[in-house]
Amino acid sequence: MDDIRRPDDMARITTEADAQAYIEEQIALVREQVGDKKVLLALSGGVDSSVVAALLIKAIGQQLTCVHVNHGLLRKGEPEQVIQVFRDEMKANLIYVDAVDRFLDKLAEVDDPETKRHIIGNEFIEVFAEEARKLDGIEFLAQGTIWPDILESEAGIKAHHNAGGLPEDMQFELVEPVRILFKDEVRVVGKALGLPDNMVYRQPFPGPGLGVRCPGAITRDRLEAVRESDAILREEFEKNGLAGKVWQYFTVVPDFKSTGVTDGKRTFNWPCIIRAINTTDVMEVTVEHLPAELIDHLVQRITTEVPGINRVLFDYTPKPPATVEYE
Ligand code: XMP
Repeated sequence: MDDIRRPDDMARITTEADAQAYIEEQIALVREQVGDKKVLLALSGGVDSSVVAALLIKAIGQQLTCVHVNHGLLRKGEPEQVIQVFRDEMKANLIYVDAVDRFLDKLAEVDDPETKRHIIGNEFIEVFAEEARKLDGIEFLAQGTIWPDILESEAGIKAHHNAGGLPEDMQFELVEPVRILFKDEVRVVGKALGLPDNMVYRQPFPGPGLGVRCPGAITRDRLEAVRESDAILREEFEKNGLAGKVWQYFTVVPDFKSTGVTDGKRTFNWPCIIRAINTTDVMEVTVEHLPAELIDHLVQRITTEVPGINRVLFDYTPKPPATVEYE
C-alpha cells in the first residue's frame, strides 16, 4: 500500500456526488485488499480516523475493530461522542479503553514538555498494542494517513506513520483509504458518510491533547479547569457563529496563582488564558479580535463556572514570535 500516490490529474473532491463516487471506489478496493480478514483501527475521534472508521464500517462492517483510548487529555464530551456515533449509531465493533489513571499517574510531576509528549506517545502505543494482543486474527491496521502527511514525510518535515512505533512483533499490512486525499476532501467524504458536523469540521487538536494546555506538571484539578474552560469557550464560539470561522481556539491554565476576591473573601487561584487564532499554513498565525461583549461574557462565565479560576487573560500574540500551543 505504501506506493499508492495521488494521481496528478485527480480532480479535487468538493461535492457530495464526488464524495460518493470516491467512497464506492474505496469500498471496492478495501474489500479486495482485506477479503474476509480482520482490521484494527485506533480511533481518536479526530477527523481522519473518524472518516476512516465510517468508511470501513461501510466496507467491511464487523471485520473492523476500533479501539478508542481515553488518555484523560481529550476535550469534554469527546469519548462519549465517539461511543455514541460509532458504537450506538454506526454499530461498530468498538473497544473503549479507559486509560485515564494510567496516563495521569505516569505524567504526575513531569514538567518537561518534551518528556510529557514522549510519555503520552509511548503510553498510547503501549495501551493500543496491549489491546491488539488480546484480539485474534488481526492482519491489517487501518490508518488515517492523508496526502499532506505523505508529502511532509517525503519532504522530511514529519514522520507520518502513526503506527511507526508499534512493537517489532506487531507488523500489520496497512489499510489507508484516505491516503490520497487533502484535508478538505476528507471532510467532504466524512460529511457524505453521515458523520456529524462537529466531528467533520472540527478544529485542529494536538495529539498530546489538553496535556500541552496544562503547562508544566499536569495535576487533575488544573486539567479539569482546562477542560471546563475549553468547553465554555467552544459553546460560546458556536453560539456566536465563530466556531466555523476561527481556525483554532482554546484555553490554557498556567501553573501559577494570583490573588482575587469572591463574595468578599480572598481567593488564590489560577488564571485562564484564551487563545483564538487564524492561519492558512500554521507557519504564521494572526489573532482573532473578539467582540467586547463576548469577552465580558467569557470572563464572567469562566470565573464563575470553572473551579480554581479567578482571572481570565487573552493571548493577543501572533506567530511568530509565539507558537500556537504553549508547549
Ligand atoms: P505550534 O504550537 O507548533 O502549533 O505553532 C501548530 C499547529 O500544530 C498543532 N500541534 C500539534 N498537533 N501533535 C499534533 O498533532 C502535536 O504534538 C502538536 N503540537 C502542536 C497545534 O494545535 C497547531 O494547530
